[in-house]
Amino acid sequence: MEKLKLIDYEDPGCGDLYATPQKLFDELNSEFDFTLDPCALPHTAKCDRFFTQEVDGLVQDWSGDRVFMNPPYSQPNLPMWIRKAYNESLRGALVVCLVPSATSTAWWHDYAMKGEIRFIRGRIRFDGANGTAPFSSALVIFRPLDSNA
Ligand SMILES: C[S@@+](CC[C@H](N)C(=O)[O-])C[C@H]1O[C@@H](n2cnc3c(N)ncnc32)[C@H](O)[C@@H]1O
Repeated sequence: MEKLKLIDYEDPGCGDLYATPQKLFDELNSEFDFTLDPCALPHTAKCDRFFTQEVDGLVQDWSGDRVFMNPPYSQPNLPMWIRKAYNESLRGALVVCLVPSATSTAWWHDYAMKGEIRFIRGRIRFDGANGTAPFSSALVIFRPLDSNA
């Protein structure tokens, strides 16, 4: 079992802390009506209900939620988060994942390709970053098992 890499909150350059632009979140929220942000800090949380590293969103129950997930992108964290997202969808959650469009990775093939994929046009300027991201992004949408949500 992979061990989670803890994030240093004191490091302002840590990409794992960069936040989703509010405009992008608002557009998605108008479509999905999210109830949970499972990986956040209080000042970047996109939903009233959110989890931080201290309570560890990876071990919490998301099954009754409509989830917006922009996880830490560093290794080995990202594969652990997308696996959690997929598994929670099997337990009833709807999970929209904002992730790098990393189509050659194992996690993309093992998990992302089980969801609905929407490639994002252009590159995102994450809040906290100095410029636009040096990678392309995609949305991976895991709908609850046996549901049309
Ligand atoms: C890319 S940021 C996204 C922040 C915010 N959710 C957003 O979309 O703007 C990832 C966040 O995950 C948090 N995080 C890291 N490990 C976590 C864990 N085990 N449980 C919950 N949150 C965690 C980090 O502190 C960071 O704020």
